[in-house]
Amino acid sequence: MNLAVQQAMPTSTGSAQKLSDEMFRTFRGYIYELTGIYFQDNKKYLLEGRLSKRLQVLGLASYDQYFNLLKYGSQRKDELFALYDAVTINETFFFRNEPQFEALQNSLIPELMPKKKSSGQKLRIWSSASSSGEEAYTLSMIFHEKIRIKYPNVGLEVVGTDINSTVLDIAQRGQYREYAIRNTPKEYLNKYFVQQDGKYNLKDEVKRYARFEHLNLYDQQRMRAMRNFDVIFCCNVLIYFDAQSKTKIVSNLYDSLNPGGYLFIGYAESLHGVSKAFKLVNFPKTIVYKKD
Ligand SMILES: C[S@@+](CC[C@H](N)C(=O)[O-])C[C@H]1O[C@@H](n2cnc3c(N)ncnc32)[C@H](O)[C@@H]1O
Repeated sequence: MNLAVQQAMPTSTGSAQKLSDEMFRTFRGYIYELTGIYFQDNKKYLLEGRLSKRLQVLGLASYDQYFNLLKYGSQRKDELFALYDAVTINETFFFRNEPQFEALQNSLIPELMPKKKSSGQKLRIWSSASSSGEEAYTLSMIFHEKIRIKYPNVGLEVVGTDINSTVLDIAQRGQYREYAIRNTPKEYLNKYFVQQDGKYNLKDEVKRYARFEHLNLYDQQRMRAMRNFDVIFCCNVLIYFDAQSKTKIVSNLYDSLNPGGYLFIGYAESLHGVSKAFKLVNFPKTIVYKKD
């Protein structure tokens, strides 16, 4: 069904308590129902590894006990958040897909900004699977460095959301390791980060454009509240969903965009068979989806 999770997720290692095929299907169905993420049969060992760590932390003897706790436990909500943290892959880094940022800066901004200027509104960008914030803050840095000077009367609001609350804490802190900054141009690194004890702390002058909140892209109700975005980044997350959940999520993202707004998805992702609502716009080395 979903080739994507199969390709995108690494295999688990180490010894884990054995997950029966039946319990695997139970957890897979439940995770799918909650998040839209679908675990292929050959990813059973990955799920086993992740869930067995929760069993250890909670001191539980079996997956049945864990499933009951998730469904009916008094701490159900907290454990669901821990489950989301356990089953998601959060790989990201600053300036991850440069052609996208170039298309935004060189073509979309000159198109979108005059309207923003005349309405007195901020440019609103949603980093919808933000992980630890690198994408949202890349946008903030580019705005601060290149865009704000040309459009001094237009502000920026970046909203970063993710289902994983641990990575959102990192985003809020704005403190990164070497790995995250490895693709960051020197001039940005020197200007917008303070290096301390081997960590890179993002300066407030760029942090201030972005705010982060917990949001599950598969939660219809929460998605309905996300409105009036000029640009949405939904990168490197669609690969974890099956066709049905992708269709639901992309349709909601369409509704979240202002008319004339743009959607970016990951380099390896496509809306083929998922949505016909967008107009495809080609830019050097990248495609952008426009709500016409
Ligand atoms: C591989 S990261 C991509 C980060 C960033 N967009 C990038 O391209 O570098 C995928 C992110 O999607 C998040 N995610 C997975 N399923 C989600 C869902 N149903 N709702 C919201 N976020 C989700 C994961 O927690 C993870 O942080």
